[in-house]
Amino acid sequence: MTYRIGLIVGSLSSHSINRRLSKALIKLAPAELEFFEIGIGDLPLYNTDLEADLPAAVVALKEAVESADGLLIVSPEYNRSIPGPLKNALDWGSRPWGKNSFARKPTGVLGASIGAIGTAVMQSSMRPVLAFLDAPQLTAPEGYITFSPEVYGEDGTVHNDATAEFLSHYMAEFAAFVTRVLANAPGHIGE
Ligand SMILES: Cc1cc2nc3c(=O)[nH]c(=O)nc-3n(C[C@H](O)[C@H](O)[C@H](O)COP(=O)(O)O)c2cc1C
Repeated sequence: MTYRIGLIVGSLSSHSINRRLSKALIKLAPAELEFFEIGIGDLPLYNTDLEADLPAAVVALKEAVESADGLLIVSPEYNRSIPGPLKNALDWGSRPWGKNSFARKPTGVLGASIGAIGTAVMQSSMRPVLAFLDAPQLTAPEGYITFSPEVYGEDGTVHNDATAEFLSHYMAEFAAFVTRVLANAPGHIGE
């Protein structure tokens, strides 16, 4: 069984450390996970006025999220919380009322920071948002990554055995979590 996982990177930076981390995670993921990126950089700022005629970028976001079997969100922490572009994407994906694209999507959130707490506060800010959006979350293991440039190659190669082992374990647990959630979902495998 192969699962299509939508990758959302919470940083718009062209030299994002979180994008580097996401490449490592994809490289170390079990073979049954296939990844595609769900871009958030072209979304307009959320505005109720735009809901009457959803912008094309919003329609694309919602269709991409809905087509995914699960979501992997790799994001920085901004000012001890969720980066604006990522929160904007979550808000758009949740709308219009009754058409929340995130509902029942198994989701893993982790992130890298240059600081010692490794996006822990961003991740705890994400938990109530994803809970409200009815997205089941991988709660263990947690991935609080303090980024060391020498460890993460541009191509996703991880130059530290312990880090590679930890990230492989995270992705194996994420794959098992997606499998578990989908096995119990109406209309999915196990029905
Ligand atoms: C607006 C802003 C706020 C930030 N706030 C935090 C923070 O609360 N905690 C933290 O660990 N790092 C913080 N940082 C530093 C980020 O960890 C660092 O810029 C990191 O490279 C961002 O991830 P990215 O490279 O994937 O964009 C902040 C950076 C910016 C630009």
